[in-house]
Amino acid sequence: MDTSDQWVRSRTGIAQRYVLRSGESLLEIACTASRTALERAGLSPKELDAVVVGTVSSEYGFPSFACQLQHRLGADSGAAFDVAAACSGFIYALSVADSMMRADGFERVLVVGADALSTMVDWRDRSTAVLFGDGAGAVVLVPDSGPRGVLGSLLRSAGNHWELLTVRSTGVRATLDAEARRRADDAIQMRGPELFRIAVRSMEEVTREVVTRAKLNIDDVSLIVPHQANLRIIQAVAERLGLPREKVFVNIERYGNTSAASVPIALDEALEQRLIKDNDLVLLNACGGGLTWGANLLRW
Ligand code: ACO
Repeated sequence: MDTSDQWVRSRTGIAQRYVLRSGESLLEIACTASRTALERAGLSPKELDAVVVGTVSSEYGFPSFACQLQHRLGADSGAAFDVAAACSGFIYALSVADSMMRADGFERVLVVGADALSTMVDWRDRSTAVLFGDGAGAVVLVPDSGPRGVLGSLLRSAGNHWELLTVRSTGVRATLDAEARRRADDAIQMRGPELFRIAVRSMEEVTREVVTRAKLNIDDVSLIVPHQANLRIIQAVAERLGLPREKVFVNIERYGNTSAASVPIALDEALEQRLIKDNDLVLLNACGGGLTWGANLLRW
């Protein structure tokens, strides 16, 4: 491919990423992430009331990825469904799960972000092939009568920009043959520079608004965990919000853009690095195909 490590690092911040091996299943990876989250929450899969998955990478048109995950986990009761919002998938799924708990009495909800966009690119297209990695992350929501939890979420879409980022075919199958067969017009098509500008503006706006609605200030936020699409987007949003570097979590250099998986993967690493303490105000935000964008404000 006519590209270089130097170009990719300097334009995107990506130094390495993980992609599904031939025959490897995204479902298995999502299952591993879910089991870890359940273990940390001290819950068994059978105790779940719902499984909500932010994904655009199901192998099947139907059933949903969530129903298959529910079965693999041995959690065959309650509700299971997918939320399709591309890179904003986890933000949307978390908001939906939180609303289900507040409005409909769901008590223990597994929220997953899982995507494998590397299987959808045309590997001859340097403008997309260098960007995407595959992965999954998971969280478990349980009720808490104290101040902790999701303080608010904001979801936005602009369907008028749907053509900026598209993939026509669905059905992820991680085989090298499938990659070789993928026709260019079936692969991800992205108008990167236009998307870049909208992503910066929309992530700034939605972040300000979710914080203001909670009657808080940006300065109260301890850590922002943004979708990892491009280091320059993350830095531009942070600069517009007047946030110092240490308040913005970045791990894109090791994963690339994992779409709906990027926020939960980053959240897990921020926790491992002890960057989040009890009572901290944590903000998650993302922008992706749709266009979709959104933010969740959490009291940890
Ligand atoms: N290697 C070398 N050169 C390249 C590469 C590459 N991999 N890709 C593009 N170029 C070239 C272009 O051809 C162009 O050359 P030209 O000036 O001769 O025409 C030049 O580099 C600049 O290209 P741009 O596309 O303007 O580069 P830009 O700085 O905008 O970076 C990028 C491209 C990384 C795609 C950026 O626009 C971006 O990150 N956009 C946003 C992506 C995003 O946020 N996606 C949303 C989430 S994804 C989801 O929802 C699934």
